[in-house]
Amino acid sequence: MRMMSLLTWRAPPKELALEDEQVHVWRASLDGPPSRVDALRQTMTVDELERSERYRFDEDRWRFVVARGTLRCILARYLKTVPEQVRLRYGKRGKPHLVGQSGAAGLQFNVAHADGLALFAVARGRRIGVDIEGMDRDLAALEIADRFFSPREIAALRQLPAEARAEGFFNGWTRKEAYIKARGDGLSLPLDRFEVSLAPGEPAALLSTAWDPEEASRWSLKELVPGPGYAGAVVVEGRGWQLKCWEWDGG
Ligand SMILES: CC(C)(COP(=O)(O)OP(=O)(O)OC[C@H]1O[C@@H](n2cnc3c(N)ncnc32)[C@H](O)[C@@H]1OP(=O)(O)O)[C@@H](O)C(=O)NCCC(=O)NCCS
Repeated sequence: MRMMSLLTWRAPPKELALEDEQVHVWRASLDGPPSRVDALRQTMTVDELERSERYRFDEDRWRFVVARGTLRCILARYLKTVPEQVRLRYGKRGKPHLVGQSGAAGLQFNVAHADGLALFAVARGRRIGVDIEGMDRDLAALEIADRFFSPREIAALRQLPAEARAEGFFNGWTRKEAYIKARGDGLSLPLDRFEVSLAPGEPAALLSTAWDPEEASRWSLKELVPGPGYAGAVVVEGRGWQLKCWEWDGG
């Protein structure tokens, strides 16, 4: 049974504090009135504006602006600064991170979006990755799993009753993605070299990796329930952290 904390996205407190043992995940809609897009565009750097101009379709461009602007607003709350002062850089495989600035104190984050919904995960002093996927129940889940998942994951998926397979597949997919995003590896890390739990109702976990017997014990995972028809996961370095799920109110 899913715990209530996974299901509830609450309004954040006015005075937001992120303790070392806490992980915050924010949920935000990427769709909104043009005035919201325009306001968030004001927070972006020249590079980000150039990137936004490369989207062919208006909807994709607007969603990128809202996603990036909202990320800046969220990080600014923790950094006690203004969104346009948040300084971002990119790792060698494209993972954005904060550069040393006052108040950053080990603040780490990761972003995921699917259609009009985004998740922003934030932790202190721990690597973090998040993923969200819209659950397309007509997807050829077994065929895709055969191509990308490990033999143990494929067997776990095949054992599920047919009606639970789509959920099992998306559990596996989002957990695998969130793990490679936490490491920042991108697709350089083959997806069949590590294993996650995926059966609906089982706790989310990194079960093993092919390269280091200790690796699985260094990370913990939690299932997220971003909304009807969506699967999500957050992966964080270490154990014993507490998850808080906040709804972004646009302010
Ligand atoms: C880029 C990647 C990290 C995630 O891509 P994605 O699933 O298309 O997109 P998501 O919405 O989950 O994440 C995108 C965000 O991740 C962040 N990101 C980019 N590169 C990253 C990296 N190497 N590590 C972690 N995060 C990264 C960015 O913030 C990006 O958002 P932005 O473009 O608005 O800045 C990469 O893993 C990828 O291309 N994955 C798809 C692989 C796949 O097909 N998997 C099948 C599993 S069965």
